[in-house]
Amino acid sequence: MQTADIKQIDVKVSKPYTVYVGEGLHDFIKSELKEKRIYVVTDSNVYELYRDFLKDLSSYVFVFEAGEERKNYSTLLKIYDFLIENGADRYSYAVGVGGGVVGDVAGFAASTYMRGIGLYHIPTSLLAMVDSSIGGKTGINYHGLKNIVGSFYQPNGVFVDVDFLKTLPEREYISAFAEVVKYGIIMDASLFEFLERNVELIRKRENKVLKIVVERSIKNKVDIVEKDEKEKGQRAILNFGHTFAHAIESFTGYSRYLHGEAVAIGMVKAMRVSQRMGLVKEEDVERVRKLLSDLGLPLKMEEEKDAYRIFQIMLKDKKNKNSSLRFVLTKGIGSSIIAGSVREDLILDVISEDT
Ligand SMILES: NC(=O)c1ccc[n+]([C@@H]2O[C@H](COP(=O)([O-])OP(=O)(O)OC[C@H]3O[C@@H](n4cnc5c(N)ncnc54)[C@H](O)[C@@H]3O)[C@@H](O)[C@H]2O)c1
Ligand SMILES: [Zn+2]
Repeated sequence: MQTADIKQIDVKVSKPYTVYVGEGLHDFIKSELKEKRIYVVTDSNVYELYRDFLKDLSSYVFVFEAGEERKNYSTLLKIYDFLIENGADRYSYAVGVGGGVVGDVAGFAASTYMRGIGLYHIPTSLLAMVDSSIGGKTGINYHGLKNIVGSFYQPNGVFVDVDFLKTLPEREYISAFAEVVKYGIIMDASLFEFLERNVELIRKRENKVLKIVVERSIKNKVDIVEKDEKEKGQRAILNFGHTFAHAIESFTGYSRYLHGEAVAIGMVKAMRVSQRMGLVKEEDVERVRKLLSDLGLPLKMEEEKDAYRIFQIMLKDKKNKNSSLRFVLTKGIGSSIIAGSVREDLILDVISEDT
């Protein structure tokens, strides 16, 4: 691959860095990192598939068993052991190669080991490419609480090679499109239209289309992160559909839906709330529903649901975060607002609806 074909997105935050996006980037990544002391962190699935590439990056490779359950302090401590035992110092770099689980735990280890060492992300899942590797949030789950311990820690660089998506399981691949559709709804109408026009190629995982989708998504997230690096305000619009999604995930015990699937259902609910408040038309709700469904995402919960309990989970979530019942809504595809005064009965109604 010619370096000219690699897109570069500069992230202008407290510690500026570049995100590289392209295909066939293995040699490019190796040459960018070759002079550095590299400590690779990855999970068992990624290791099985990309062992040669990982070993070429460094002779130090730490592998933990794949899965959200492993995003915990026991894995974190093992990463510290791995760094200490292999002589990592302040001039070393941790390189997380994997999905969001790897990126979050490797990032947190890097941010705390010797009060912070270098960090690169090489995201291999679509969710990690368009969301978790961008923006500098790191963390682990603890005490049954998701991401309760963590830090803001920007990497030194991110390498996004869409070729990794070829081996991603179908459900993981499709579910991450919920976050991509989200960027379309909250801030990028032309990305939304691009998705509408390219569903078939997306489902075939065409690199040409994927590079555009991934680059546009990253640019959108970078725009928001640059304005609100530490999540004090504007970054909240990234939570479109997520208040509902988190409640649905919690209600179903984090086992029935992948995060993106719950976000898809949550976004349909958020569209309905927007419509009921007179912010968008029925056609907009239908456009979102059609795109999600064409992509293969769910639009509603399949199981018996207790709307009141889901609503209670939402309220509790808000209370824990010390926030009122504020919702991210849309005023039309491509724009979002944070609404401070959404009536509780309207929310309850929308949860109960079966559409
Ligand atoms: N830091 C942030 O800003 C942020 C944002 C969103 C989500 N997250 C976190 O990200 C995590 C979810 O990330 P995820 O969806 O990538 O989950 P994940 O890391 O568990 O990856 C999903 C599955 O795909 C496998 N996989 C990854 N890349 C592969 C590839 N190229 N080929 C085959 N299999 C591959 C993994 O081994 C895993 O089994 C959650 O822990 C969430 O909290 C963080
Ligand atoms: Zn999300």
